[in-house]
Amino acid sequence: LADPGFSEAVIRWQKQHGRHALPWQNTRDAYRIWLSEIMLQQTQVAAVIPYYQRFLNRFPDVRSLAAAPSEDVMSHWSGLGYYTRARNLHRCAQRVVEQYNGAFPSDPGLLAELPGIGRSTAAAISAFAYGTRAAILDGNVKRVFCRVFGVEGYPGAKPVEDLLWKRAVALLPQDGVESYTQGLMDLGATLCTRSRPACERCPLADRCVARATGRTHLLPERKPK
Ligand code: ADE
Repeated sequence: LADPGFSEAVIRWQKQHGRHALPWQNTRDAYRIWLSEIMLQQTQVAAVIPYYQRFLNRFPDVRSLAAAPSEDVMSHWSGLGYYTRARNLHRCAQRVVEQYNGAFPSDPGLLAELPGIGRSTAAAISAFAYGTRAAILDGNVKRVFCRVFGVEGYPGAKPVEDLLWKRAVALLPQDGVESYTQGLMDLGATLCTRSRPACERCPLADRCVARATGRTHLLPERKPK
């Protein structure tokens, strides 16, 4: 399942062509990273940025968020949608204060037990805040893996998803997990897009099964009806 040179290619591309100035980058503050990852779960970067700034101005740390009235939290989320995220966010802040004395744990397994944090979000927080070697697998990354490795079947189906997780873990670099994780996200968001991927600029094009077989428009497979 390993693929020599894969992580190195992603890291080199990220350093040259990836995004480096997003508001939640260049910090190791787990609170800021957690907030960004929750907002980015179902919302695009450009839409998140103004909400993120306003939210941080009002709730600069996990204690201020935990102590705030729910209506205040909801009003600062209003417009972002998927409001379960905001309720879980508030509950998560309260748990971090009560259970962890205000410090997010670094272990992705513990992070994933908190409200609103799944396996991939836990890994992203742990990698960005603490440099932990943990694998992410969000929708964009599933698309990259399905294409590069020619993975067939709907990636939301359990057996396919299990295989993709195994791949994700096997591909992790020994060092530089922050650049690697951000690189995978940026590749999926900017080059390996759902329609019309920019393969000519992709650092993985020379190893991409979908590209080699003319199937980028067929992978990942859509949800069966
Ligand atoms: N989507 C999810 N997490 C992200 C991040 N850290 N940067 C950009 N897009 C993302």
